[in-house]
Amino acid sequence: MLQINKLTKRFGDKTAVSSADIFIDKPAMIGVIGRSGAGKSTLLRMLNRLSDSTTGKIEFEGEDITALRGSAKRDWQSRCAMIFQQFNLVPRMDVVSNVLHGTLNKRSTFATMFNLYPQSDIHRAIEILDRLGIAEQAPKRAEALSGGQQQRVAIARALMQNPKIILADEPIASLDPMNAQVVMQSLRTIHEEDGRMVIANLHTLDTARRYCDRVIGMRDGRIVFDGTPEQLTTGVARDIYGASADFSEAATSTEIETLDTSKLRTAEAYA
Ligand SMILES: Nc1ncnc2c1ncn2[C@@H]1O[C@H](COP(=O)(O)OP(=O)(O)O)[C@@H](O)[C@H]1O
Ligand SMILES: [Mg+2]
Repeated sequence: MLQINKLTKRFGDKTAVSSADIFIDKPAMIGVIGRSGAGKSTLLRMLNRLSDSTTGKIEFEGEDITALRGSAKRDWQSRCAMIFQQFNLVPRMDVVSNVLHGTLNKRSTFATMFNLYPQSDIHRAIEILDRLGIAEQAPKRAEALSGGQQQRVAIARALMQNPKIILADEPIASLDPMNAQVVMQSLRTIHEEDGRMVIANLHTLDTARRYCDRVIGMRDGRIVFDGTPEQLTTGVARDIYGASADFSEAATSTEIETLDTSKLRTAEAYA
């Protein structure tokens, strides 16, 4: 359903994403891992058409996404919702209004200016918040919520668009481990119950292993691994992260319980 062919993005003489090929035949939960600068964000931004590719092609259900312009491109962006590390909510606005912003693409400027939302949209926003376990926060200002709650508001706003695909760029990088788990579990549930595709850039390997069906590893703009969490061996992880640098980082993370420590020691032995 989603085919990415030789997708490349250059910034001057820097190649951020180099000839990426990804084929996804059914809605899956996919984790994209790699060091900082590997090209993960650039890949997601091209998928969402926030950034134009230099060369290559993206096709979704037979439609050439790379060729979309104007309203067709905006329509794609609402079918392909994006969630960011910093939540990108309007901090002083109440939670339910933030969620209703997810319907912006479909509304007139006039209605937006005067905050005129149909009653049915308001009900739906509350239902989505309820599903994410934060309906009681609806009247509060977004800035009054914890980081984990704010990220769930951002997910609710994305769901308001009824997207086929949810793209999440380091959705848990600013969260403590408890909230990180709640947010990842929310994304997993949305994937399983609604059949939406989720593609999440993740900093740590163990999060990708725990929540994703498929993991794509990037290094220096290239896809160096594409497989199941089981196939993601220590050797492969070394290819993705280079030497053992990120294993020591993982070792200090509170998610350490889920890491196979025998593998960790093997990785350290390569240092
Ligand atoms: N707008 C930009 N202008 C110039 N270089 C960029 C831009 N965006 C990203 N890059 C470069 O592209 C590479 C990949 O960046 P990015 O996709 O943000 O990586 P990641 O998300 O994996 O950390 C990096 O070297 C980064 O400096
Ligand atoms: Mg990034």
